[in-house]
Amino acid sequence: MMGIARFSDQWIEQVRSAVDILEVIGRRVELRQTGKNYVGLCPFHSEKTPSFTVNPEKQFYHCFGCGRGGNVFNFVMAAENLSFPEAVVKLAQEKGIPVPELSPRDQRREQEREQLRQINQMAARYFYRNLRSPAGAQAQAYLDSRGISKELARDFFLGYALDAWDGLVAFLQSQGVDLKAAQAAGLVTQGKNGPIDRFRARLMFPICDHLGRFVGFGGRSLTDAHPKYLNTGQTAVFNKGQILYGLNWSKEEIKALDQVIIVEGYTDLISLFAAGQRNVVASLGTAFTSAHAHLLKRFCSQAVIAFDGDTAGQRAAWRGMEVLHAAGLQVRVASLPAGQDPDTFARSRGAEGVAAWLDRAQPFREYQIDRIISQHDVETREGKLAASTELVTLLAQLTSAVERDEYVRYAAERLGVREESLAAEVQQQLGIPRVSRVQNRRNVRSEAKRRVVPRLRLAAGEELREREVLRYLLQKPDLLKVVQQRGVTAEDFQHPEYRRVFISLSESVSDEQGTAVASRLLSLPAPAASWDECFTSFLADLKRRRLRKIEEKLSLLENDRKGFDVRMELYRLLKEYYGIHRDS
Ligand code: UTP
Ligand code: MN
Repeated sequence: MMGIARFSDQWIEQVRSAVDILEVIGRRVELRQTGKNYVGLCPFHSEKTPSFTVNPEKQFYHCFGCGRGGNVFNFVMAAENLSFPEAVVKLAQEKGIPVPELSPRDQRREQEREQLRQINQMAARYFYRNLRSPAGAQAQAYLDSRGISKELARDFFLGYALDAWDGLVAFLQSQGVDLKAAQAAGLVTQGKNGPIDRFRARLMFPICDHLGRFVGFGGRSLTDAHPKYLNTGQTAVFNKGQILYGLNWSKEEIKALDQVIIVEGYTDLISLFAAGQRNVVASLGTAFTSAHAHLLKRFCSQAVIAFDGDTAGQRAAWRGMEVLHAAGLQVRVASLPAGQDPDTFARSRGAEGVAAWLDRAQPFREYQIDRIISQHDVETREGKLAASTELVTLLAQLTSAVERDEYVRYAAERLGVREESLAAEVQQQLGIPRVSRVQNRRNVRSEAKRRVVPRLRLAAGEELREREVLRYLLQKPDLLKVVQQRGVTAEDFQHPEYRRVFISLSESVSDEQGTAVASRLLSLPAPAASWDECFTSFLADLKRRRLRKIEEKLSLLENDRKGFDVRMELYRLLKEYYGIHRDS
């Protein structure tokens, strides 16, 4: 993998200023000029009216439909699934800008890595031939017994490591390979009397990186002898936390479907391929990392987790969901009964069964709620209480208020409790001061016909940040100037009580209710984050809301194109939009 520090900022800047975003994007998207901007159909989501905007002056693009945007590097990364260094190199080469040589040290490292990949590839060929030779008869019979056809075994380059101490060692020696390097590749270890094969009497699954380069192996015992699978350990080219098995074979399909199916094991992946699902990767039974998630994010926006039905599988799945969700993927879960894994399921149910099962995949929050409930005996009062405590903890973590409401409703229904009770406990856990009782009663009276009291639609995180900024302001009034300099006004506080406190602070007027709220705020435990952290996140919320408001106006304008002033207004809004984008 390429180091981030490979290119100087100066060189990257040189490339940036040499390329024109209009030209680069114009090659892929048909663009039409409107004023200073250009618009076209977004290449990243499907749409009928153009909301993809390129601003050549600022060298930015932004899609008002799907929210994607950035500079020319971001565009090339997204459009061609490249990493940042790969995108910069590609643009530099197009412009004939020489790519800086690697430092001698980096060059040597890269050569070493390349050597390890070469040795892995030679070994893969050697194992491949073994399986198809008389010495591989037992392994071949094992494959037959598992229903893995010759074609599948060929597609996945399966092989066999002989039941011998020096099968691979002798082969590599005959090819003039340095055994030290083979050891660094994880294929050879030091025995009592010299180097020996690390993989012996095992069915071999070669593992490639997403570019299809051979980086490691998983070796399965034919007899279930421990360990069932022996894998390449950490080497300069193989890190379990960064590699996903199968991505080299599935990435095109993942991109085309905008969806990846994630399984745990080698055989799960192979059987799903055989059942017609070609957008699969396997996590190799290891913890799913955020590096994995970000790698997948380059290819798609939706993930379906299809882990084993046992407890270990479900625990790993839970972690995987959170990691994928945190990386911005939409996550669903296709669950299996205990004792099943995607491999056994696919072989017993066939292509149709697999397709139906994947169709039934649940949004992961629903899955989490169901799982918590299934772990308690909710027929008893104790069980119900225990389940509700866990549910409240889960629900309080949801940062979007809309999402939270949605799942509070779902969980309450599943658990058989009143939605209002569960909601109240979640609010309490969030530490949100309830809207004062007087105001509440007034609402109830004036909207007597409505059953539900209108609830504050404000994300929990945002509310928390407003609160913490206010608490700092109350303690250090000097900070008020800083806040005002950044253009923050009372309007920017969403919570009505907090808005009132801010008004009384900034206008130095005291009102009774404001004082009451202020003293309650001051009595809470001190914020965990520093002022800078609190204020930065507060400003980020603000920016997001302002941008969203403009986006809403823009989409209204889109639907009303008659007026002559529309273009002026559109231009004004875009200018404001990019202004906010820039000064952050
Ligand atoms: P499983 O135990 O579910 O294996 O581990 P499996 O994929 O169903 O294997 P078969 O069908 O019995 O052959 C899932 C994955 O965890 C890793 C492997 O990558 C395996 O595919 N694993 C498992 C190991 O690395 N070592 C082990 O000893 C076991
Ligand atoms: Mn399994």
